[in-house]
Amino acid sequence: MHPPVDLSRRSFLTVPAAALIASRARLGAAVASIREAYRDLFLIGTALDFRRPDEFDAAELEVITSQFNALTPENSMKPGPVHPQEATWNWTVADALVEFATARAMKAFGHTLVWHSQTNPWFFEGADRDLALRRLRNHILTIVGRYKGRIAGWDVVNEAINDGGDAATAATENLRDSRWLQTIGPDFLLQAFRFAREADPAVALHYNDYSIESGFKHQSSLVLLKRLIGEGAPITTVGIQGHWSVTGLTPERFEQLEQAIENYRALGLKVAITELDVMLTGAGGGQLGGRGARGAPPPPPAPEALQAQAAAYGRLFAIFVKHRNVIDRVTFWGLHDRRSWRAFASPLAFDREGRPKPAFEAIIAAAPRAGA
Ligand code: XIL
Repeated sequence: MHPPVDLSRRSFLTVPAAALIASRARLGAAVASIREAYRDLFLIGTALDFRRPDEFDAAELEVITSQFNALTPENSMKPGPVHPQEATWNWTVADALVEFATARAMKAFGHTLVWHSQTNPWFFEGADRDLALRRLRNHILTIVGRYKGRIAGWDVVNEAINDGGDAATAATENLRDSRWLQTIGPDFLLQAFRFAREADPAVALHYNDYSIESGFKHQSSLVLLKRLIGEGAPITTVGIQGHWSVTGLTPERFEQLEQAIENYRALGLKVAITELDVMLTGAGGGQLGGRGARGAPPPPPAPEALQAQAAAYGRLFAIFVKHRNVIDRVTFWGLHDRRSWRAFASPLAFDREGRPKPAFEAIIAAAPRAGA
């Protein structure tokens, strides 16, 4: 039904060898690879989009292909961009990512099917529960079906749980008051997982959210996941987004993260870290809004700040290593500090020019030695 894009016409697939050699020199010959360091443990991903054929320069392409073996579309598969009107689908950018990944034996992940954000209002216009469910099913069957066999896992539902909470809401699912909840009711999650499974019998299916690894929101996540499992929802994986900050990652937060991974494992689920970044400043969390990637570039971070960030990354990866049996992927939310939704907080392992930061060295150092 959907002919594949003609990849021979895409310049990003044919980077001249000379450009790659030059970019290697720019990166430094001795640069290690995160994906190689963790090859036997879990996938290492990045989030990006091929918005134009020349989106990335040769040095960036070298970082993408040498450092990562998994890709998540940062925006192009969200309901708003990919399905802006009931009869309109924009496949070009989403297809480009899947084709790029497939051509390089990288895993592609789908993000996201059901979300309160980046979803156009047509889904809910004039809709009662049945019509909203029909539109949701058609959405999911079309996009999951299109990429069947070429996507390793889908974030089926994103961010359904409220922020904050208290001791009373912690005993409940504390679902966000989204249009999905209002129009369909609390079983919108179960239905979405069923539709995704109907479209692809083999793909991993994730519940994805931020700040679910600690506090009241973690308790609510357990209530929700137990309910979904009890209802027979075909969920395989919990996605902990991992939008963190150096100051927010207190010793207590690291302990809570480990406990959360344990708790999800005890439910029989896999865990993926789906949107990792560690801001140099600020509180972390996955809330949208606020200062984003636009605006004046931040001043170069102070060496002490970069060291503190490196220590935080090192500690996180030590936890991921320890729980390697349940963690199947760690994906960074962005390629480098210039291509980050929180560029102002320099949150990634590569700097604005794509050069490895102290965080990169700490991540490599946290990997078990070969044979260890
Ligand atoms: C962000 C993108 O990075 C931005 O480009 C976009 O403007 C807004 O969305 N949690 C998620 C991601 O699940 O989809 C969000 O991505 C970041 C927070």
